[in-house]
Amino acid sequence: MRIPQSYIDDLNLRIDLHELISRYIRLTRNRKGADSTALCPFHDEKSASFTVSNEKQFYYCFGCGASGKAIDWLVDYDQIQFRDAVKKLAGEYGLEFTFDDDDPKAQEKYQDDKEQNDKLLAALKSAGVIFKKNLRKPIGKAAIEDLKSRGITGEISKRFEIGYAADTWQDVKQQLSGEFDENILILAGLVSSGDNNYSYDFFNNRIMLPIFNPKGELIAFGGRILRSKAAEGSAVAKYMNSPDTPVFNKSKILYNLHSAKQFIARQNCVFVVEGYMDVIAHVQYDIENTVAPLGTAFGIQQIELLKRHSSNMTFCFDGDRAGRSAAWRVVENAIPVLNDGINLQFLFFPDGEDPDSMVRKEGIDLYRQRLSQTMSMAEFVCRYVEDRHPGDDPAHKGKMAKEVFELLKKMPKGIYKHLLIKKFADEVGVCETLINDLIKTH
Ligand code: CTP
Ligand code: MN
Repeated sequence: MRIPQSYIDDLNLRIDLHELISRYIRLTRNRKGADSTALCPFHDEKSASFTVSNEKQFYYCFGCGASGKAIDWLVDYDQIQFRDAVKKLAGEYGLEFTFDDDDPKAQEKYQDDKEQNDKLLAALKSAGVIFKKNLRKPIGKAAIEDLKSRGITGEISKRFEIGYAADTWQDVKQQLSGEFDENILILAGLVSSGDNNYSYDFFNNRIMLPIFNPKGELIAFGGRILRSKAAEGSAVAKYMNSPDTPVFNKSKILYNLHSAKQFIARQNCVFVVEGYMDVIAHVQYDIENTVAPLGTAFGIQQIELLKRHSSNMTFCFDGDRAGRSAAWRVVENAIPVLNDGINLQFLFFPDGEDPDSMVRKEGIDLYRQRLSQTMSMAEFVCRYVEDRHPGDDPAHKGKMAKEVFELLKKMPKGIYKHLLIKKFADEVGVCETLINDLIKTH
C-alpha cells in the first residue's frame, strides 16, 4: 500500500536531521547559523560543500546536487528502498508503521485518524474565527479594555490572533454544531459534556490565545480570565489550556515556535520564557525569538524540539525560590540530551517580576542590557547546589558534590561533559579524577 504523504511529513517532523546525519558522517556546526557542513559523502572532494539546514531539515550538496530530507538520506547513504527507510526511521522515532500490504485494517485506521484529525483542525480553526470576531463585538469590550490595560496593542493582538470566549457557555457549541458533530467538538476540547446530555463550551468569558503547531495549524487554545474578574476573588484558574487531543500534545509544543523559528535561525539563539504574556511582551518589543511551554515544566521533548532550531537557549525565570527550582528542573531534563555545543543560559528576574512586567516597566533599553547578563548552566548549577548546602565543611561539600554527580552521570560523553566536570571539581574543591571515578562507579 502507498504510504500517505501526511505520514511521511509527520515522520520527517520528528527527526533532527543534524543528529541523524551525524551518526554517519562528521558534521560541523556553522557558528553563525544553526546549519552544518561536511565533506560530501556522495562525491570526492577536498573542501566541504555538503550542508544541512536545521530550519528546513534538508541537506544539499553544492558540489554534486545530492539533496533531501531524513528519509532520502537513508535511501542515498544506506542504499535501501524508500519504504524500508521509512519503516526503519518510523521504528526508531516511535511512529507506528501501518502500511504493510497484509494489514488492511491498520491502513483503514490510519486513514480514519487522518480524516478525524482534519475535522478537529477545521473545528479549532472555526472556533478561532469565532473568538476573534467576539473581541470586536460589544461583548468583547471588557476583554479589549483588559488587553489595553496590559499594554497589548491592537497590532500585537492581531498578530497573535487573540480572541474572546463569550460568557454564555453555549457560543461555540451553537455556532459550530451545524457544521461539526458534537463528538468532534468534544474531542477537539472545545465543548465539555456534562450530566443528562447537557454540553457546554469549554472556554467561557476568557481572553483566548490560539496555539499553533510548527506547521502553523491552530491546534489548541489558552484562555486567560479577565483581570477584573480575577480581582473579584473568584476561585477559577487564571489560565485554562485545551486538554491534550489527537492534534495537541502539550509536552511537545511550544507557544509561538511557528513564528519565532525564522528569527531563532537568523539570530541563532532563543529565549524561553514562562508564559503566554511574556512571549507577547517580548514580541511587542521586537524580541521575536521567544517561545514558552504551556503551563508545564520545560521537558525533554521540548528541548529536543528547540535543539533543531538553535543550540543557544536562554531560560528566563522569576528570581524567587520557585523560579530557581524551575530552572533546576530544566537542567535535569536537559542533561541527558546535552551534546557538545549546546549552550544553556539562565536569567533571573527580581522577585515578583516576569519578562512581561519587567520590559514594560523599565523599557526596552534597560531590558536588553538585562537580557545580556545571563548565567551559564555551569554557574547556575554551582550556585544552586551551594545554596542548598551552604557551608565549607566536608559534610556539606559532600552533599553538594553528590548532587552534581547525580546530574553529570546522565550527561552524554564529550568535551562539554569533561569541561563541566573540571569546573565542578574546582568549585567543590575535589580533584577531577575523584569525580570521574564516582561517576563511573555509580
Ligand atoms: N499557567 C497555567 N495555569 C494557571 C496559571 C499559569 O497553565 N492557573 C501557565 C500559563 O501558561 C501561564 C504560565 O503558566 O502563561 C505562567 O503563569 P503565571 O506566571 O502565573 O502567569 P503570567 O504569564 O505572569 O500571566 P499574567 O501576567 O497574565 O498574570
Ligand atoms: Mn505576568
